[in-house]
Amino acid sequence: MGDTIRAVDWVEGELVLLDQRRLPEAQPRLRYRESAAVAEAIREMVVRGAPAIGITAAYGAVLAAREAWETAGAGWRGPWEAALEGLARSRPTAVNLFWALERMRRRAADLPDAHSPEAALLAEARAIHEEDLAANRRMGELGAALIEGPCAVLTHCNAGALATGGYGTALGVIRAAWAAGKLTGVYADETRPWLQGARLTAWELVQEQIPVTLLAEGAAAWLMRRGKVAWVIVGADRIAANGDVANKIGTYGLALAARRHGVRFMVAAPTSTIDPELPEGDGIPIEERPAEEVLGVGEHRIAAPGAVAWNPAFDVTPAELIDAIVTERGVVERPDRAGIARVLAEG
Ligand code: MRU
Repeated sequence: MGDTIRAVDWVEGELVLLDQRRLPEAQPRLRYRESAAVAEAIREMVVRGAPAIGITAAYGAVLAAREAWETAGAGWRGPWEAALEGLARSRPTAVNLFWALERMRRRAADLPDAHSPEAALLAEARAIHEEDLAANRRMGELGAALIEGPCAVLTHCNAGALATGGYGTALGVIRAAWAAGKLTGVYADETRPWLQGARLTAWELVQEQIPVTLLAEGAAAWLMRRGKVAWVIVGADRIAANGDVANKIGTYGLALAARRHGVRFMVAAPTSTIDPELPEGDGIPIEERPAEEVLGVGEHRIAAPGAVAWNPAFDVTPAELIDAIVTERGVVERPDRAGIARVLAEG
């Protein structure tokens, strides 16, 4: 169940992305043959969500390899590396992007100069994609096991099939918990300014007939105070070595409110989202996006002329506010440096 939506695909030598900017009114699929266009697609939010960005970048690296081989033959490594740097500049916070590019570099290091690297790199990108899907299914089982139920849960942004290789991280846990009969329903923050909750999470859940109730994120603390949810379940864009978690702006506020109201707080993320090089969350680069995204809704300007806006796309939730980080290698309860190191060593 819950495994039909695919945001990223590789079809007949082309990368195919579901244009998430158009959901739910339309579901156009865009095809890519150039790595620079893939970098632009990530920047412009055609594809979004940390694991999906990583998988897309890996396929972008395959297109870059083809371009580099066609233009430079045995000298493909130079132009290929330049294209990878272009992909890396697309968005700064989700570490899966850099993790996937690094993995592609490691695979390329073993390849001969005198043969096209495309086939070997495509196999690596496909492996990254398939492993992500398998990780999500495992996290679904592990995360659902933490929920006693019957209860309702709150989620934020979209950490579903659309944000990953399929099935989802936080929504994977929700899918598994629903299938196990533990959930009475799901509350989803609308998630300004891109409305990933209203447009994407609600779309995914409605398709699976999982009851979803939207709320403005300003209503979340009141929802908790009214005793409506037992868990907040979110994904992550980057997890520092001490368990601090960067995720969609608004996540930190949810964690503060959850702790105040005795609501438990779960983060579901694959180990590819952990950045062991970063000692703590303060070091995570936080993307700031254009003010226009806050000053209007879509193309429609709503703010008073003359107003300016601050638009951080992510925030950092300190580990002390998190009850459990669920990865495909196991659960870290009350996360800290030792717990994160332990789960990484499980590999
Ligand atoms: O700006 P976005 O839509 O790319 O942000 C996505 C999020 O913050 C998700 O919650 C996160 O990537 C986890 S997705 C499995």
